[in-house]
Amino acid sequence: MEDENSYDYVFKLVVVGDSGVGKTNLMSRFVHDTFDFASKSTIGLDLTIKNMVVKNKRVRAQIWDTAGQERYRSITKRYYRGSVGALLVYDITKRESFATISRWLNELKINEAHPDSIIMLIGNKSDLDSKRKVSQQEAMDYAESNGLMFMETSALESINVEKAFESLIVNIF
Ligand code: GTP
Repeated sequence: MEDENSYDYVFKLVVVGDSGVGKTNLMSRFVHDTFDFASKSTIGLDLTIKNMVVKNKRVRAQIWDTAGQERYRSITKRYYRGSVGALLVYDITKRESFATISRWLNELKINEAHPDSIIMLIGNKSDLDSKRKVSQQEAMDYAESNGLMFMETSALESINVEKAFESLIVNIF
């Protein structure tokens, strides 16, 4: 009898970036198709499991949504170890959250994310284009020179969220 819980691959993914950029809402949009205007800041980290079929294989993604606040950094960084994919998220309306991307990248490396880990840079809140502080071109250039994938998303308007997670996973294969 087939075991409903069996799968071909288990992947560990992490979602990182400054506090308030929308990490939790990207996750909840992807996993539950929900959005929260008043979501509370994540304390430490949350694990969500998403089972998918990708290229005819059953994939179980363990997705760690990490707190962006500095005070949790010593806890969250322990969970980067062994991750094979990461969403590195900034807010297109907050220059500072883009400026810290190199620091997040470095933290992933020094805390032993898998050496072949696929990292996707995500410019979230694309619905707030009138308040944009980081151009697509600048982010694209940064991604290219650092070997990252890149996409702009809106967790609010459900733009590119599924596509971002799925193309990350397809590239891990
Ligand atoms: P920490 O848990 O503190 O690290 O924050 P976070 O990155 O998980 O941010 P969170 O998902 O809690 O979202 C922060 C705020 O941004 C909330 O008020 C969300 O409603 C809002 N938000 C998230 N995604 C979007 C988006 O795509 N568009 C808009 N306009 N607002 C968003």
